[in-house]
Amino acid sequence: MALFLDTIDLGEIERTAELGIFAGVTTNPKLLAGMSTSGRLDRLGEIARRTAGSLYLQVTQRTAADMERQALTLREVAPGRAVIKVPMGAAGLEATARLREHGLPVCLTALFSVPQVFAAGCARAHAAAVYVGRITRAGGDGVAVVREGAAALDAAGLGTRLLAASIPDAETLARLLAVPGIDLTLSPALLPALLDHPGTTEAIAEFEAASSGRRR
Ligand code: G3P
Repeated sequence: MALFLDTIDLGEIERTAELGIFAGVTTNPKLLAGMSTSGRLDRLGEIARRTAGSLYLQVTQRTAADMERQALTLREVAPGRAVIKVPMGAAGLEATARLREHGLPVCLTALFSVPQVFAAGCARAHAAAVYVGRITRAGGDGVAVVREGAAALDAAGLGTRLLAASIPDAETLARLLAVPGIDLTLSPALLPALLDHPGTTEAIAEFEAASSGRRR
């Protein structure tokens, strides 16, 4: 199980770099919205310089050939560490096959169902990103899709990692952490769930009071 940070915010990346709990950073076009093409590449390059782990970079082209070309440019942002995110669909699956020829790991993304997860596994994608919060907002059960998708990959002996994305809140995060063998990507807004608890704050205050000889 690995944790990723889903952000393009350099401040958040700096703040979390020393925590030692993230295996890398995931990005998507929505996070980069409003930037020029060169601005996007500059920002992604800056993220690559400030991090050491995997960097998930998403293509925005529509055809497999164009996705392949764009992925080869994105690879240069973080050579040896780039995982190319490709939206699920016929073009995405074809692009996945092409990128495998280049030795590039692919994360098929924006998955909403167990069969899509299974197809990503059959395509030998490195990862399959399930949009948990969006599934639940659409009336489904995002955690169940993750649990059943991971079980399907495991049962079929497919090596694709299931990446739980679009995690809406701390309660959903806690439920996902009980699913064996998955990876998770978290928005910085969920960091407090990993670091803080009122009980911890109170215990620390007690420790400090004790070490300074005060009683509470
Ligand atoms: O990484 C995908 C994720 O950012 C989508 O999240 O919150 O837009 O559903 P959200």
